[in-house]
Amino acid sequence: MKLNRRLLVAAIAGLFSTAPQAQQAWPAKSVTLVVPFAAGGPTDVVARTLAASISKTLGQTVVVENKLGAGGTVAAGYVARAAPDGYTFFIHHNGMATSTALYRKLAYNPLTDFEFVSQAVDVPMTLLARKDFPANNFQELAAYVKTNPQKINLANAGLGAVSQLCGMLFERALDVKLTAVPFQGTAPAMNALLGGQVDILCDQTTQTIPQIKAGNVKFYGVTTKSRIKALPDAPTLHEQGLKDFEVVVWHGIYAPKGTPKPIIDRMNAAVRAALKDPDVGRRMADLGAEIVPDSKLSPEGLQTWLKSEIDKWGPIIRATGTFAD
Ligand code: MLT
Repeated sequence: MKLNRRLLVAAIAGLFSTAPQAQQAWPAKSVTLVVPFAAGGPTDVVARTLAASISKTLGQTVVVENKLGAGGTVAAGYVARAAPDGYTFFIHHNGMATSTALYRKLAYNPLTDFEFVSQAVDVPMTLLARKDFPANNFQELAAYVKTNPQKINLANAGLGAVSQLCGMLFERALDVKLTAVPFQGTAPAMNALLGGQVDILCDQTTQTIPQIKAGNVKFYGVTTKSRIKALPDAPTLHEQGLKDFEVVVWHGIYAPKGTPKPIIDRMNAAVRAALKDPDVGRRMADLGAEIVPDSKLSPEGLQTWLKSEIDKWGPIIRATGTFAD
């Protein structure tokens, strides 16, 4: 199996080095962008917004495929094993780094089983509770959570999701342990929050801003160090007493290891074009997502960033003792 895969990689690489016309022919059919969480959720919204613009640049449809499970690690394993033929790409966030500490065994190595395409957007998170939750502001929330931890559940999108990371840091900051309720994305987690089946959710602005603005949830603050443009009146958790609390969700785009460099470069150019597309810019700004500077858009930049994130989060996660076998 390994030999076949190596032969396939060599054959594709040979094709691209000796036949420029074949390179120009890519993409000859639709390209798949794998999303590791549920449709309609934050990662999916970013993926579909980018995919629409990338499709225009490439002249082929970019099909978003949601592959759910195990906090994004099912999708990452799937992409790591996919054919490196330029028709499978993957978008993932901080989970690409945090999963290395959260899972004792992963079916892939995030640093060696992928080609790196580009970063894309940074997204703040927001701390929410169901609308009828007893705490009306952050100070009440902190007091209530400290005195009633056994009564409270905390929704997330599984081990490796940023909702799980944010919830875990919130628990650590208040020195409590709440009951985790995992979903396959924060789209279903948000439905449960709106339905009153779960109590607290820390989720990305790309999904939460409409619910906050409609008054459908209790909202306690943002997870960035500074206030954000999309919710200028909202205080940060840091300024309300959770000193240095910070979770910013970064997004990387990857391809299976061995995907030819000319294809990676063309996808990189298409992502850069998407991030300059005014429609993408408006949509991202409305949802609180910030397009990253050009300096973060190179394949090498993403690889270096991922390594630094693995180094940053590993010790923090291991100190909490949270992991899955
Ligand atoms: C997360 O918590 O990691 C994301 O919000 C998952 C998602 O996109 O649903």
